[in-house]
Amino acid sequence: MKFIKFKNEKDASLFVANELIASIKTNPSIKLGLATGSTPIPLYQDIANDYAKNKTDWSHVSIFNLDEYIGLSENHEQSYKVFMYNHLFSKLNVNLKNTHFPEHGINYDELIKKNGGIDIQILGIGTNGHIGFNEPGSTLDSLTRVVDLTPETIQVNANKFFNGDITNVPKTALSMGIASILKAKKIYLLAFGKSKQYAISELKKAKAFNINFPASALALHPDVTIIYDEEAESDL
Ligand code: F6R
Repeated sequence: MKFIKFKNEKDASLFVANELIASIKTNPSIKLGLATGSTPIPLYQDIANDYAKNKTDWSHVSIFNLDEYIGLSENHEQSYKVFMYNHLFSKLNVNLKNTHFPEHGINYDELIKKNGGIDIQILGIGTNGHIGFNEPGSTLDSLTRVVDLTPETIQVNANKFFNGDITNVPKTALSMGIASILKAKKIYLLAFGKSKQYAISELKKAKAFNINFPASALALHPDVTIIYDEEAESDL
């Protein structure tokens, strides 16, 4: 794992946006794995700004999102489909037919494989070390499946996206597994702010897979870059 520390999330996000844009220019039909949550919002804003200015062509890019809540209607404002549409897809010339989310009845891992696999995967990280919604206890060989969210994740997401009301947060989701994520050719994990200090310090120590800290699986991948900011650094 390579670690790159930035002064703040703004600089970090712009760096990753520029990496993605350069990759699309080299490979216009690139397959991207994308995340939701608060972390990638500035990244998506930078990508949207680039499109407004430079018209980078997204029409052949395929996108595979990491996860989706179970139980929210497709047009619910907190569904990840709506999140991605609002923050990114509506701002680019992406072909919505090339955008994908885990769904019941679809073998998502097969679909990704049939499309040639994910070239670049963007990840956030939970305060408990989850990637996608692979909570502690997720196994290294896990593929896309239904997962239970931990009380900690439900509370964090309630505070960020559901006005603090845990009763409105779905308790289950469909998520790519740890094995699914490790199949990506290149991975960027983004972590910003004080709440991610524990996650960054655990990632720095990770040498092997630890089932209690799912992101440790990234230690087994040959091309992972951890992008974090000064606030996420700690002396833990
Ligand atoms: C989102 C996802 C999650 C988030 C994580 C961090 O698609 O898979 O793993 O990346 O929960 O969330 P934020 O960015 O809100 O801190």
